Amino acid sequence: MCGIVGYIGSQAAAPLLLEGLTRLEHRGYDSAGIAVVGGSAGLKVAKRAGRVRDLADDLPKRFAGKLGIGHTRWATHGPASDRNAHPHTDAESRVAVVHNGILDNAATLRARLADDGVELASDTDTEVLAHLVARSPASTLEEKVAEALAQVEGTYGIAVVHADFPDRIVVARLGSPIVIGVGEKEMFVASDLAAIVRYTTTVVHLGDGELASVSATDLSTYLPDDRSGRLDRTSIATTEVEAADDGLDLAEGESHMHREMHEQPISAERMLRGRLDARFGTSHLGGLNLDARDLRAVKRVKILGCGSAYYVGQMGAQLIEELARVPADAEAASEFRYRNPIIEPDTLYVAVSQSGETIDTLLAVQEIQRKGGRVLGLVNVVGSAIARAVDGGVYLHAGPEVAVASTKALTSMFLGFALLALQLGRVRDLSIADGQRIVAGLEALPGQLKEALDLEPQLADVARRLAEAPSLFFVGRVRGYPVAREGAQKLKEISYRHAEAYQTSELKHGPLALISPAVPTVALVPDDELAERNVGALHEIAARGGPLVVVTHAGVDLGDLETSEAVDLTRIDVPRNEAELDPVLMTVPLQLLAYHASLHLGLDVDKPRNLAKSVTVE
Ligand code: F6R
Repeated sequence: MCGIVGYIGSQAAAPLLLEGLTRLEHRGYDSAGIAVVGGSAGLKVAKRAGRVRDLADDLPKRFAGKLGIGHTRWATHGPASDRNAHPHTDAESRVAVVHNGILDNAATLRARLADDGVELASDTDTEVLAHLVARSPASTLEEKVAEALAQVEGTYGIAVVHADFPDRIVVARLGSPIVIGVGEKEMFVASDLAAIVRYTTTVVHLGDGELASVSATDLSTYLPDDRSGRLDRTSIATTEVEAADDGLDLAEGESHMHREMHEQPISAERMLRGRLDARFGTSHLGGLNLDARDLRAVKRVKILGCGSAYYVGQMGAQLIEELARVPADAEAASEFRYRNPIIEPDTLYVAVSQSGETIDTLLAVQEIQRKGGRVLGLVNVVGSAIARAVDGGVYLHAGPEVAVASTKALTSMFLGFALLALQLGRVRDLSIADGQRIVAGLEALPGQLKEALDLEPQLADVARRLAEAPSLFFVGRVRGYPVAREGAQKLKEISYRHAEAYQTSELKHGPLALISPAVPTVALVPDDELAERNVGALHEIAARGGPLVVVTHAGVDLGDLETSEAVDLTRIDVPRNEAELDPVLMTVPLQLLAYHASLHLGLDVDKPRNLAKSVTVE
């Protein structure tokens, strides 16, 4: 959610900044801008609503400078317009600031500045920082920034340049990540490693509350003391990161979502590799930091995540209850801490997140830890804020996920829950035979994910028809309900069609009133103990003329629903695994449906409107 880059060294800054922004664009794509310092003009800024490529096309010819900062924005304060694009400057255009996060007291500060005669040029919270830095009487840029930050409340990751200090970039963070890349007589700053790993793998993660002064050859970090205004030097810990493929380069005509969906068989295999124990019907998860006694002491499991991660959390809770017989539930992390939750020492809390940066999930983790709870993480991005905050956990090994609509990471999350459920189960009541049955099911899953993906041509056809409907239902029961929620979420997210998920059993308690030939229902009917009841509900929908897309298994008998001319029904048979593991296979056709609906409607599959890949503001 919003991306920051910065460069200082001997190369022209603008092309490097634009390249870095392109690599961060999935984090926010409402507007983009860069500022460089150099030459007689001092500070130059180019910014506009739209994509990074629009900014690059519009960039003035003379935009020289070997020091600069850039930003790609997901709008929080003020609409996505040229004037609200970052960087923001002071009235004299000597200071430029890019900012991720939200300043809670921006309205007060804006009013104060306006009373002092400052004309504000944007509707943003960030702009106040540029004015505060410019107005600071301190003598160094580091002190000016620290003074400005002492006046703001909220969260930030910022980068600041100043025409009077053409040899440095000052960065600071509170709640929003900043990394510094150390190169050969050049330095990079960014909100995300993706923007810099192709230039250097030596990085410094700025600590929360820290401020850093970055020149081409030197780096100093400080902890500002808000009261005294003093800047206390802190020690610098340099880390070597892997220059892994960041997944950003696409072939002509390819989309990230399509590629990531089709990576699922491989990413699932990677997630399971070395973690299954067929002999004892259990799993090995080295990072949990829990021994059998600790696992046995767990009385309850509480899963926290947002959006799709929350829905997979619901699938995970069901798995844990079934396999381990430990009460488990999932809750939206964004709501959790606001209801003053009861934190119990014998509850195992699990935070689940692809990015590891979702602020709502991170704040939930901190709230639990503050009250003495223990939190495990199921996280994809190595070294991310949540991965570093948790007390133990399991990396998802899904590889970089760039499309806003999450697919392969969710599959790995589900597998993570299955592995955890096995461990919890095998130190309790789960028999060795049942453990082995689940292990065998997990071993078969990567191949079955491939078979489910092979249904793509059929789903592309169905999607073209569904995309014309203004509104749809997704229904499922027990194991199938979170799958329905996830299916509705995917469709909404990338096709902008209204979709509502319901428990199949609840339809007759209200929503059946909406069923008509214009409102299709996607129904999940696995071959399990509820299949017959589910088929009964399909009859109720068909009797009202509702078109049906039934995601099911070959063994399920849909009776005359399939033969009757009066019923509009499409059947999609997915591969069958163990009933506990089937939900993950049922999510695949729903991903394909959403993807092809979006494609059919001519929409941007990877960058749906109003969204961003990771949500680092509350
Ligand atoms: C849906 C989607 C979002 C994320 C949610 C949590 O496709 O991508 O709903 O699942 O914002 O993100 P992470 O997993 O990064 O915490």
